[in-house]
Amino acid sequence: GDVSGRTAFITGGANGIGLGIARALVRAGANVVIADIREDALAQAKADLAADAQVETVQLDVTDRAGFACAADAAEARFGKIHILVGNAGVGVMGPVLDARFDDWDWGMGVNLGGVINGLVTILPRIKAHGEGGQIVTTSSQSALIPIGYSAIYTAAKAAVLGISEAIRGELAAENIGVSAFMPGPVQSNIAHSGELRPAEYREDSGYRQREEELEQRPVSPLWMSADEVGDRVLAGIRANDLYILTHPEFAAGMRTRFDAILASFPDETINQDRAKAIGFLLSN
Ligand code: NAI
Repeated sequence: GDVSGRTAFITGGANGIGLGIARALVRAGANVVIADIREDALAQAKADLAADAQVETVQLDVTDRAGFACAADAAEARFGKIHILVGNAGVGVMGPVLDARFDDWDWGMGVNLGGVINGLVTILPRIKAHGEGGQIVTTSSQSALIPIGYSAIYTAAKAAVLGISEAIRGELAAENIGVSAFMPGPVQSNIAHSGELRPAEYREDSGYRQREEELEQRPVSPLWMSADEVGDRVLAGIRANDLYILTHPEFAAGMRTRFDAILASFPDETINQDRAKAIGFLLSN
């Protein structure tokens, strides 16, 4: 659908991919509320977008449920209604599973999965209530489909985000709310600096701290896609209500291999028609 005059609420929108999505939406005539934990980056993003009439910023830690409700209130106070939720805030919690400690799991799942859940619980009822319909966009990752190295925690959260998006698509269609799962490949962003955001309470029992500090030295590769390019991709996906928004066809061969292996692992039995009927009932909603 058309996004012009609609209001989007973008978590993690002050940097990288979220900012690219914000730029695309502003250009398309949407109002944009950028919610992010980084206060300095929020001010910078607002200045960069140079579209005061269309842009509001609000400081938010997506793991803070009360704060999420306040941020949604602020968005509605400014623009009246929220139509588009982009659950994009995320952190790169990466490392060998043998080094992963509870603080690594809890922080990674809390932001990357919990943040998306908090967005849905907070904002979905508001979209339903105004009755004008809308769109849910979740930033999952290409790694939800082809796990990258050292990504147990990250992949767990991103695969869950993809699963949620697929699961709610049918239900929300009845409310005129579209759902898109966004699964970008490598994109130029600030994600290598995620470690700066790790709260003190998740630093005690962590096996990843040293790795996170080293990662901050890693330069952003020019081979990775620009945030503006993926922002345009997401805008197109919103307009078309695409369930899947992908960016890098270089992953297609690996995805095909993976899915062929999954399909090949069924027992070699003929299909039982009665059982198929019972399964059909489970699949409908
Ligand atoms: P980024 O670090 O440039 O942007 C993420 C933003 O989220 C930052 O502005 C950060 O301050 C914010 N944020 C982090 N924790 C937060 C919290 N608790 N509450 C509110 N805001 C918080 O990184 P990037 O790459 O733009 O990441 C955006 C999303 O894209 C993430 O979900 C990430 O996992 C995902 N992604 C990134 C890929 C990449 O190659 N850059 C590839 C696939 C997925």
